[in-house]
Amino acid sequence: MTQEVTPQAAPSTRATDADSATLANLLQETRSFAPSDEFSGQANAQASLYDDADGDRLGFWADQARKHVTWNKDFTEVLDWSNAPVARWFADGTLNAAYNAVDRHVKNGLGDRVAFHFEGEPGDSRSITYAELQLEVCRAANALAALRITTGDRVIIYAPMLIESVIAMLACARIGAPHSVVFGGFSAEALRSRIEDAGAKLVITADGGYRRGAPAALKPAVDEALSALDAAGTNPVERTLVIRRTGQDVAWVDGRDIWWHDALAPADVRHEPVWVEAEHPLFILYTSGTTGKPKGILHTTGGYLVQTAHTHHNVFDLKADTDVYWCTADIGWVTGHSYVVYGPMLGGATQVIYEGTPDSPHRGRWWEIVEKYGVSILYTAPTAIRTFMKWGDDIPSQFDLSSLRLLGSVGEPINPEAWMWYRKVIGANLTPIVDTWWQTETGAIMISPLPGVTATKPGSAQVPMPGTSIDVIDEEARSVPNGSGGYLVIKEPWPSMLRGIWGDLERFKQTYWSRFPGMYFAGDGAKRDDDGDIWLLGRVDDVMNVSGHRLSTTEIESSLVAHDSVAEAAVVGATDETTGQAVVAFVILRQEFADQAAQGDKARQIEESLRSHVSKQIGPIAKPRQILLVPELPKTRSGKIMRRLLRDVAEHRNVGDSTTLADSSVMDLIASRVK
Ligand code: WTA
Repeated sequence: MTQEVTPQAAPSTRATDADSATLANLLQETRSFAPSDEFSGQANAQASLYDDADGDRLGFWADQARKHVTWNKDFTEVLDWSNAPVARWFADGTLNAAYNAVDRHVKNGLGDRVAFHFEGEPGDSRSITYAELQLEVCRAANALAALRITTGDRVIIYAPMLIESVIAMLACARIGAPHSVVFGGFSAEALRSRIEDAGAKLVITADGGYRRGAPAALKPAVDEALSALDAAGTNPVERTLVIRRTGQDVAWVDGRDIWWHDALAPADVRHEPVWVEAEHPLFILYTSGTTGKPKGILHTTGGYLVQTAHTHHNVFDLKADTDVYWCTADIGWVTGHSYVVYGPMLGGATQVIYEGTPDSPHRGRWWEIVEKYGVSILYTAPTAIRTFMKWGDDIPSQFDLSSLRLLGSVGEPINPEAWMWYRKVIGANLTPIVDTWWQTETGAIMISPLPGVTATKPGSAQVPMPGTSIDVIDEEARSVPNGSGGYLVIKEPWPSMLRGIWGDLERFKQTYWSRFPGMYFAGDGAKRDDDGDIWLLGRVDDVMNVSGHRLSTTEIESSLVAHDSVAEAAVVGATDETTGQAVVAFVILRQEFADQAAQGDKARQIEESLRSHVSKQIGPIAKPRQILLVPELPKTRSGKIMRRLLRDVAEHRNVGDSTTLADSSVMDLIASRVK
């Protein structure tokens, strides 16, 4: 395994001297914020949760399971860990995810509550109640059944942030067909490989969506992916359902493509949910790993719903009858699954979803939305917060943000300065901030303060959630003392844990369970401060985090090497003020191209074509910020590329210890090319 021991430092540890001085002052004054009166005693979460969980962990989870989820048949056993690391939680219980997210609220007399306020980028908006949603989900479930999609069939959803996309996910869940949502920013090639790996029978997509003030097409990528699969003779897809959003022209394959509205129109609005066993697959979500091939992270129904609902209730303190909750994540990421669709919907939340970008048509768009709907709970990523910081306080200050009472952060370490800005400028110096650490694999929040219980501390995710067993350990798997750093691990199974990598049990064991036997290795570095609070330090493996999105260095390297001009490539995530990390690629060209690059503008052209090549192969999010053409790469005697040194170069630092290089003059050569 290619491990580097030093965690990639979070932006917070790389502040400039001037920044550090202000920051030090700021933090000296405000080491932590005790819960305000609004929260003390009134919050959903009480300190007793920790005691309950410590006293009887499985009993605690059984209580949460019965409190937050309606079971069609109750379970008798909480956990079966006999086949570790594949867990079975609540295994003999049966339930349905869509029933829990929608129907039971209607049954409880809450049908008139708004489930979603949808805000389109061009300014169109629409609200849908739980009762209306129930009819639509039933209709869609019947439409899927009419297309012969049955329990166990996989469905790919490649669609923008629309109410229809949520309906599509819930319709799949209603019939027990695992969905696999592919983020709309991924390329046709990325889509193709996911369709193939999942063996999907149906693709649900849209003509396009609005982004940055213009319609962006989606369907062509589906057409391209399916043509490639047809050509290879490996196309599992029988039908595509196409949501009409923009009205733009789309190519049509008769007999395969069907409009979503045409499929739904004749469908009955009554549908009996399929009661599945707790361990029935709910979804597969692909995420980047340390090798080139994305991993299909498998989540099942019961444990996942229990933990997403429990964490949403306690971390976000949702008071469903008064709060308006907005999580800005796209449904293409796990945050959109757990904290737009399942967690909050199980809690009967009223939510906002927004289709577009924060700067369309102006940089105050998010704050305008907060004001318009009276958003009270906002959950977003540090990269967005840093962007708003850069744009200036005067933008949010033009809007009434007084409805906000709780703020959340997820996706990457939040530097204390951004944390303080978020609280001060967005939260009127009052709101608690919950910095939530978790992963696609963990399914739900694992480390977070609890509002009303925890005094919050800028920059730290702080405390493991009740019922979880999280530790920071050293190379020898010993817990590190307060004040020290190490690797983040999880020592006991948790309900929403991944159940495997789709179709690859061996890789699941190898990736997560082999580094420290008997423990789940998260891939993150962490430290414990003097109070014992946990600070996340970023990935310790070959995974980058760009704007809160996970990207694999290896995947981008493979994509570069596949280009005609490239002989060898090494990719690193370099610290970036706004996006947390940015992709920087070091490329050795094949001789003939290197000769060309030596002349005039040609090098720029090659760099540009490599950037668009990566964008086309993986998606615009993976496009390198910078490509550096170099004559050599720094390698150890055993041939391993020393990315740590390349990171030094990319971040304009003096190159660190290079004594283990096979040829130590290489770094001088690279540094001289880069200047
Ligand atoms: C990082 C997103 C620090 C971490 C939910 C993890 C964080 C990866 C935080 C998972 C946080 C997520 N503080 N780092 N609060 N939240 N991360 O699978 O490196 O897209 O391993 O899940 O994001 O990313 P993923």
